[in-house]
Amino acid sequence: MSSVMKQPVLSIKKLSKSFTLHNQGEVSFTVFDNLDFKVYPGECLVLHGESGMGKSTLLRCFYANYQTDSGSMIFSPDDESYDIARISDRLMNMLRREKIAYVSQFLRVIPRVPALSIVMQPMLDIGHEYKVAKQKASHILKRLNIPEKLWQLSPTTFSGGEQQRINIARAFVVRWPLMLLDEPTASLDAENREIVLQLIEEAKSVNTAIIGIFHDKESRDRVADRVFDLATGTMKR
Ligand SMILES: Nc1ncnc2c1ncn2[C@@H]1O[C@H](COP(=O)(O)OP(=O)(O)OP(=O)(O)O)[C@@H](O)[C@H]1O
Ligand SMILES: [Mg+2]
Repeated sequence: MSSVMKQPVLSIKKLSKSFTLHNQGEVSFTVFDNLDFKVYPGECLVLHGESGMGKSTLLRCFYANYQTDSGSMIFSPDDESYDIARISDRLMNMLRREKIAYVSQFLRVIPRVPALSIVMQPMLDIGHEYKVAKQKASHILKRLNIPEKLWQLSPTTFSGGEQQRINIARAFVVRWPLMLLDEPTASLDAENREIVLQLIEEAKSVNTAIIGIFHDKESRDRVADRVFDLATGTMKR
């Protein structure tokens, strides 16, 4: 990785987050405090830490699904820079459409929208022609072993692993400056896990920065360029 010459895609400084439980006597607890790191184009940074350490919470903060208490998250996909900690809803929605992909472990599906349309949407959002979008979506669905008979069905009734692969197909059908992956291989068999790891490697090769959480050590070792340990707030490597 020749990150030395590149500008970071995401640079977080003194980032802190706590939760206040309003329906449980306003109990407040810190999830993470004073985190600092940078993520560069073409690298995969893996978030590591025990269950409950705050990995998913941190990833959600980068997608502005959760607010942070203090600190900054400077996102610089191109010439522009945005502080995700202080961004307007309108700009954040633009970033979600064009610049940042987020893959959660579970697919949130709108009933009645067919799998193929879900996977085509990110391409249509950035202005690709319907025909091209359909071609690329079909290609990635095939690659991820989603049987063709399912493409016109809504994923509501799909198996956990099938839903996860729809989620992955939708994220990887276009190129993004930044991808946030929360245990993308968790409910996949070995064959499909291998395909997802290849998609991650391909994304890295076209300069996408990836921040990911991986349950299994094998996947982690395969794709991680650096590992950030949430227990200590430092890079492990
Ligand atoms: N919306 C929320 N409101 C209150 N507390 C929350 C909320 N989301 C997460 N938490 C708490 O924050 C802490 C971190 O949770 P998080 O899901 O980020 O952990 P994780 O590191 O991803 O764990 P796992 O490996 O089990 O997925 C946990 O103690 C959790 O209970
Ligand atoms: Mg988690």
